[in-house]
Amino acid sequence: MHDNPSSKDSGFDRRAFIAGAAGSALVPLTARAATEGVSSAAVPDPALPVDVTLRVNGKDKRLRLDARTTVLDALREHMGLIGSKKGCDHGQCGACTVLIDDRRVVSCLTLALAAEGQDITTIEGLATDDRLHPMQQAFIDNDAFQCGYCTPGQIMSAVACVKEGHAGSDADIREYMSGNICRCAAYPNIVSAVKQAAPEIMKG
Ligand code: FES
Ligand code: FES
Repeated sequence: MHDNPSSKDSGFDRRAFIAGAAGSALVPLTARAATEGVSSAAVPDPALPVDVTLRVNGKDKRLRLDARTTVLDALREHMGLIGSKKGCDHGQCGACTVLIDDRRVVSCLTLALAAEGQDITTIEGLATDDRLHPMQQAFIDNDAFQCGYCTPGQIMSAVACVKEGHAGSDADIREYMSGNICRCAAYPNIVSAVKQAAPEIMKG
């Protein structure tokens, strides 16, 4: 991650913010300042807007965000990419799953600042031209959704599941898709979809 001049201009150091947040996520900055004998006036206000460039589906997008903005909110509220869904907003349902540098992450628990300089892929970025991604097609072919709310997260997770080499058996697929909850219980058809798409994805 590189320093951003404009954030320095605003008096906010993102590197320090992220390091501080990672080290003591549950302790408010002002409380830490009090316990550490630091004047609260010296602690940067995390609500100050900062400039961040996110690379989403192959395109850079420059945003000015509250430093506490998650990737999910940056996508949905600031970029109009509403394919990634907000279910629990607590990292427990998988509806918000995106790929960051080809790893699946729950975007509701990932700070946008921490994703700067990495490649974010959302459900909107899977299809090429007018051709659906094999996993999208497989979900349709296998009727692997009902209400569809969990589907974008399921598909992103399923793509990663295959690429990680965890689609060798039904049990394997169920295990490695277990972080994605479906209230409609479309699980058997989701397993079928992953099995259908896996060979094509592995071909590249
Ligand atoms: S909305 Fe992120 S895991 Fe549920
Ligand atoms: S299809 Fe409705 S929650 Fe999964």
